[in-house]
Amino acid sequence: MQNSIYSYLAKAGQRAPSAGNMQPWFFHEKNNQLVLYMDLEKLEDSYFNREHPVTLLAVGAVVENIIQAAQLNEIDLEFDYFPPQDSGKCAFFQVKNKSFKRAMKAERLALFNRRTNRLPFIKKAIPQNILDELLNLSTANAQLVAYQSKEKISLWSKWLYTASQTRFRTPNIHQWFEQTLKVTPEEVATREGLDIKLLELSAIVSLILKTAQAWKKMSLCNKFYIYKLLAKFEILNINAAPALIGIIASPGIPFAIESGRLMEKMWIKANELGLSVQPYYAVSDQVYRLKKGIISSSLEESIAHLDNEINTALKLKNAFVYILFRVGYCDKNPKKSLRHLVKI
Ligand SMILES: Cc1cc2nc3c(=O)[nH]c(=O)nc-3n(C[C@H](O)[C@H](O)[C@H](O)COP(=O)(O)O)c2cc1C
Repeated sequence: MQNSIYSYLAKAGQRAPSAGNMQPWFFHEKNNQLVLYMDLEKLEDSYFNREHPVTLLAVGAVVENIIQAAQLNEIDLEFDYFPPQDSGKCAFFQVKNKSFKRAMKAERLALFNRRTNRLPFIKKAIPQNILDELLNLSTANAQLVAYQSKEKISLWSKWLYTASQTRFRTPNIHQWFEQTLKVTPEEVATREGLDIKLLELSAIVSLILKTAQAWKKMSLCNKFYIYKLLAKFEILNINAAPALIGIIASPGIPFAIESGRLMEKMWIKANELGLSVQPYYAVSDQVYRLKKGIISSSLEESIAHLDNEINTALKLKNAFVYILFRVGYCDKNPKKSLRHLVKI
């Protein structure tokens, strides 16, 4: 019986979002606990390694899903989460109930229905009380901040444009993207990565990405400024969004995991309230690379300038924008992306 609860909780965790849908984690049931591990083998060859905030945000989202699934089913759960150990272990969950209601209807829980929506949103403002409901999910360590004015939204659009261009000019990020992009039915059937059909790309962008999936070809295309075209496509829907929401917290592993929990909490609630959500990670990634000193010297100046502008405009002091979201209403609900089947 306990095993079936743990399978259920792991299934909830597995629905968490991750950059490129890479699902860099796995679960084991051990000593009557469900244990969450970062998949270090998978991360070893990846640009997004175990310390990268993108990986830690995903771990935070897995933790949040498991906690929510337990709360909604009145499962008494003892848990802890922490920076990944050498084995990759980063959280455990132990069910304390002797008996529990067997009402676990996956489809009824909002967390199983959360998804990314990359379609254009309709022209409709978000009522302030709805926005406040989201912003009030902020915690002492991680804050949700909304950007609604034309000025702030167009600033974000400009920042994303800069960061996105840099991304398409950086070999190891492009190679990571090459791994995540799934084009053929066989690739999609691996149940990880980004099914190109779910990316809502125009025919031309889809063709460019398929053609320039390998860095060698991308770097050739870049001689014709293709990185500018792809970056333009990435920001296409930003200016028409009624609101952007950022997650701001201090730098560091515990704050990144906390931000991941908040990301998932906000995203689930927003979808439940009928709002669509699309994350944008390019700015956070480039600023992180700058702090780590891993930007190529030819691109460093523009990202240093970007970082300066963001800190000044948003009045940030020793704080980091972990991720940005476009939030609004859409008349279409995209298909759910696939996940690996859970084994514990
Ligand atoms: C940390 C993080 C960064 C992401 N960055 C982007 C992004 O820059 N652009 C985008 O379209 N989707 C982004 N995504 C969305 C993922 O691609 C998406 O969550 C994943 O493919 C699973 O799909 P789902 O959210 O519909 O379940 C990001 C997700 C996470 C967790």
